[in-house]
Amino acid sequence: MIKKILIVVVGLCLISCTQKQVTESASTIDETGFTTSVLVSDKLSLRWQVKDNTTLEAALIGDPQGKGWIAIGFGKSIMSGAKIIVAQNGSDGTSVLDATGYNYGLTNNALTVISSKNVTLSGTAITASFNVTLNDVNITLNESTPVIWAYRTVEQSTKDNLGNIGKHSSRGSSTITFK
Ligand code: HEM
Repeated sequence: MIKKILIVVVGLCLISCTQKQVTESASTIDETGFTTSVLVSDKLSLRWQVKDNTTLEAALIGDPQGKGWIAIGFGKSIMSGAKIIVAQNGSDGTSVLDATGYNYGLTNNALTVISSKNVTLSGTAITASFNVTLNDVNITLNESTPVIWAYRTVEQSTKDNLGNIGKHSSRGSSTITFK
C-alpha cells in the first residue's frame, strides 16, 4: 500500500515538474521605436508600439507557407475570453477581423475593436497592420500580458464569420510586456 502511495506521489511530482512554462516572447526594439516580439521563431511575430499610453499600433507578421490565416489573441493564455485578431489570405482576397474566443471557437465582436487596418502580402508571408485600444484587448501597460497565437495553411475563401475559419495547424501561447 505504502509503495503504491509513493508511486502516485512521485508520479504527481513528475507531472507538475514537467508542466510547460509560459515564457515571455523574445523582444527587440528597433530605431523606429517599434518592438518585435517573436511568437514562433522564423514563422510568426508581432511588431508593435504603444502610442499615447492608450493605443497599440501593431503588425502581425507571419508565413503559414501557403494561403491560410494567422492570428494573435490578447489577455488570456487560452482561447476562451481572448481578444483575437485574425488576418486571412484567402483564395478571394485578404481581410483583418477581430473576435473573442468562446470555448474552442470564435465569436465576432459585436463592435469591431480595430480602428485601422491594412494587409500586405509577399508570397505567402502576411503583414497585417492594425490599431486597437489597449483597454479593448485587455492589455495593461508594464504588466506581463498573456497572448495566444495560431495559424492555419488551408486555401479557402475569406470568412466574414471568424467562427468558420477552421481549426489551426499550429497554436501556442506566451506573454508580452507592453510598455
Ligand atoms: C474557429 C477557429 C478555431 C477552432 C475551431 C479552434 C479549435 C481548437 C480546439 C478544438 C482546441 C483544443 C485542441 C487542441 O489543443 O488543439 C484548441 C486549442 C487552442 N487554440 Fe484554437 N481554435 C480556433 C482558433 C484559434 C485561434 C484564432 C487561436 C489564437 C489566436 C487559437 C489558439 C488556441 C490555443 C492557444 C489553444 C490551447 C489552449 C486552449 O485550450 O484554449 N485557436 N483550439
